Amino acid sequence: MVYPWSAVPSASSGGTAMPPNPNALRWLWQERRTSTLSIDQSGVWRFRDLFPIVKDFERVVTLREGNTPLYEMPKCGAIAGVDWLLAKHQGMNPTGSFKDTGMTAAISVAAERGFEWVACASTGNTSAAMAAYAARAGLRSIVFIPEGKIAWGKLSQSMDYGALTIQLKTDFDGCVKILTELVKKFPIYLLNSVNPYRLEGQKTPAFEMVEQLEWQVPEHVIVPGGNLANGAALGKGFAEMKQLGLISRVPKISVVQAQGANPLYRAMQANGGDTLEPVVAETRASAIRIGNPASWKKTVEVLRATGGWVEQATEQEIALAKAQIGAEGIGCEPASAVTLAGLKKLVAQGKITREERVVIVLTGHTLKDSEYTIKYHRGELLTAEETAGATAAEREEHAGLRKPPVVLEADMDVVLRELEAQMASSRVAETV
Ligand SMILES: Cc1ncc(COP(=O)(O)O)c(C=O)c1O
Repeated sequence: MVYPWSAVPSASSGGTAMPPNPNALRWLWQERRTSTLSIDQSGVWRFRDLFPIVKDFERVVTLREGNTPLYEMPKCGAIAGVDWLLAKHQGMNPTGSFKDTGMTAAISVAAERGFEWVACASTGNTSAAMAAYAARAGLRSIVFIPEGKIAWGKLSQSMDYGALTIQLKTDFDGCVKILTELVKKFPIYLLNSVNPYRLEGQKTPAFEMVEQLEWQVPEHVIVPGGNLANGAALGKGFAEMKQLGLISRVPKISVVQAQGANPLYRAMQANGGDTLEPVVAETRASAIRIGNPASWKKTVEVLRATGGWVEQATEQEIALAKAQIGAEGIGCEPASAVTLAGLKKLVAQGKITREERVVIVLTGHTLKDSEYTIKYHRGELLTAEETAGATAAEREEHAGLRKPPVVLEADMDVVLRELEAQMASSRVAETV
């Protein structure tokens, strides 16, 4: 969506629209932090001046989304080879993923327009967010998810929030096809990521991030890539802030895909992103198991405008990065961990230097896919084929990170012996 102040001045517009004053906006957004109004407490609607998408702001549907932490990640930074690494944890949203920031916006529009039904196809997080916000708004929701291919945590959420949950015997791309036909036949409001209002909400973490950094801009922001809406939305947010004079430059926005679901990576390698060939997607990072991304053109525009990179990560690299993030006390879902895996590669290739300030966007909460985490720690996740490509250092890292549960007899002597053994082995590890 283009607003009078966000449009590049053209001969026809004459560039006459009066843009909001950046200092006044900064002051206003800060002031709203002290307000008790739900709309001001939302970390999305606090920035409503930059997305005037509803007529009546008093009636927006909010769960106080946004306001997510920006964590220092010194250990992961050292592993990747950068001195300054932060994680913007979008998994700390009300339904546990970044999708809430877009859904509060789009469901508010659907409610204002009087729709009764809303629907989406999803790899799990969109459906969880849509179901929750629809329930708050008193709307009925239908979710289409690929059968057996989404994490249990996400499936349970859409049921909990009362959605009609339809598991189709296909993949995410097959779900999109069915839904696209369905909305032509029924008055259902479509809430897939092509919905323009979702992008408006999803651009706000860019505002929040630089506000948290006292209006300093990092050199790089790295996001996971699935349907490719998130990178596009953040790119829009940064571009608008620059247009308004809130910041003087934009960060490079880079996208990391799973190697088994990498149509954008292939497109950039093959032709610099002029055309994209869909792929049959396969990865355990189920949130980004998408072969035919809807918003790829918008993301290519952002990559070109900001000078960002596209990388890919193997299943082994994703699992290792997720465990390293977890070991720093943060935790995220597998799809989010591609950001750290990609950062390591970009640093190794010299595309990101040690001094540059980097923010990785963690898109989902670790509890979304606890089965993945448990299998990893029990050593049941990766196949021999997947670990075959790991370096000796990576193998050692895996061994040190894995913390499988220990099953013991309920006997004090047995517990003490185990504890002594554990302490002895950590003393050995410290002296090595
Ligand atoms: C946790 C998580 N990370 C990343 C993505 C990818 O985001 P996008 O589809 O906007 O590229 C998704 C999409 O569902 C997701 O749920």
